[in-house]
Amino acid sequence: MTTVAQPRIDHVDTAQDQIVVFDHVSIGFDGKPVLDDISFRVHRGENRIIIGPAGVGKSVLLKLTNGLLKPDAGTISLFGHNLGEMKQRDLFTLRGDVGTVFQEGALFDSLTVRDNVGFRLAEEHVPDDEIDRRVTEALRFVELEHTLYQFPSELSGGMRRRVAIARAIVTNPKLLLYDSPTGGLDPITSTTIVELIIKQRDASHTTSLLVTHRLQDAFMLATHRYSHDCKCIEPLPEGETDPNTTFLVLNDGHIVFDGNTHDLVHSDDPFIRQYLQ
Ligand SMILES: Nc1ncnc2c1ncn2[C@@H]1O[C@H](COP(=O)(O)OP(=O)(O)OP(=O)(O)O)[C@@H](O)[C@H]1O
Ligand SMILES: [Mg+2]
Repeated sequence: MTTVAQPRIDHVDTAQDQIVVFDHVSIGFDGKPVLDDISFRVHRGENRIIIGPAGVGKSVLLKLTNGLLKPDAGTISLFGHNLGEMKQRDLFTLRGDVGTVFQEGALFDSLTVRDNVGFRLAEEHVPDDEIDRRVTEALRFVELEHTLYQFPSELSGGMRRRVAIARAIVTNPKLLLYDSPTGGLDPITSTTIVELIIKQRDASHTTSLLVTHRLQDAFMLATHRYSHDCKCIEPLPEGETDPNTTFLVLNDGHIVFDGNTHDLVHSDDPFIRQYLQ
């Protein structure tokens, strides 16, 4: 059974509000379908969490979103632009509005933290002193200013992931894509990363798509907020969930759930019940 619930977000569904639109999208590799006839929308300010078994196509879905992969069928729109109709050069420009935290961080080992975080700004020929200012600001956000001239190999796994987040946010993107940002990290470090993502979300209200293997990360995102008073992450009042956090559950090439936290935890879909356990 497929459970399709509407997000609780209170928005006017104008084209301008639709940051990501998948319309009957299919893709496969070597004759094997991976995503089959997928349709969903992500609205401005929405934080969409994507969960599903390993190999189901979560990373593929993010790569389709930023145009790194092309679908075999269907259309994908980003900020109202149909990716399939765009020239490579325009696609490159559009991608400038997307910040990506790749699975495993994917930093350049031969570059300092400063040059990793400022990589895209340098590509855009931003002046050096401006790069320094923005990189320092982004590193301050992830509490890693002191690592400016270190190399990724000198940092812990958690620190490298925080550098990857700084690199994704340094351009003030309109959309953030997180691919398994806590993958391979221990539980305490994972919590630090999730707290950082919540802080970023509540400080900037950037629209995001976040893939995670860890259900506890997903539920922490849905039930916590950043407080400006204590400058810390705190739980939402009992029974409340973040209204902008919504879920997409993938299984066997299909979307088996599209909706909010409340409907997800109360779903009677056998796959979802089993998955959540
Ligand atoms: N470029 C590619 N060429 C061939 N097959 C690919 C390619 N990218 C992905 N696949 C295949 O598509 C399927 C989905 O891959 P994907 O990386 O999206 O899974 P995932 O849901 O992100 O898994 P995980 O939870 O392990 O990260 C896998 O079977 C994978 O082998
Ligand atoms: Mg993946």
